[in-house]
Amino acid sequence: MITEMTREDLACAAEIERDLFPDHPWSEADLCYELEENPYAQFLALKKDGRLIGYADLWIMFDQAQIANIAVAKEFQKMGYGQILMDEMTRRSIAAECENITLEVRVSNSPAIALYEKNGFIKAAVRKGYYDNGEDAWLMIRPIGGLEV
Ligand SMILES: CC(C)(COP(=O)(O)OP(=O)(O)OC[C@H]1O[C@@H](n2cnc3c(N)ncnc32)[C@H](O)[C@@H]1OP(=O)(O)O)[C@@H](O)C(=O)NCCC(=O)NCCS
Repeated sequence: MITEMTREDLACAAEIERDLFPDHPWSEADLCYELEENPYAQFLALKKDGRLIGYADLWIMFDQAQIANIAVAKEFQKMGYGQILMDEMTRRSIAAECENITLEVRVSNSPAIALYEKNGFIKAAVRKGYYDNGEDAWLMIRPIGGLEV
């Protein structure tokens, strides 16, 4: 069900972006950059019956892993798919022998924060005015050094 993102998936991913983040979606060009140019990105596609229903963008930079994006299409949320994406990113981060997984999340994004806290992330710091609209971000960290795949 989880595969590597392909160029053919990008239009559908951009549509999900616009639906989930109407004020600040990643464009198809942004998504294409992650897929084809970002040397650190592992771009995962989550499919059901051949249809793209979610995706996650994991950056593995030497001993650090960072979740750059995780998204599940609205009609498939709260059905365990976000957790499936999280499990795969965790597995890959441990396999790459990373010490931590980090991420930034809007302080208002309660569903995502709940997902991250359920998976052992802790709020480490506030990044003031991190987003374009001035909203703060939580920097969250999950230590994984020493865990086994
Ligand atoms: C965050 C997101 C990926 C979660 O995906 P999901 O498939 O709905 O999550 P799951 O069904 O796997 O839920 C896993 C856990 O996440 C938390 N969670 C998910 N949705 C939640 C909600 N609406 N309210 C509170 N907690 C929620 C819960 O802890 C849940 O565990 P539980 O079911 O045992 O309570 C999804 O809400 C999403 O795509 N949001 C928009 C995009 C986004 O904000 N991405 C994060 C950017 S930093």
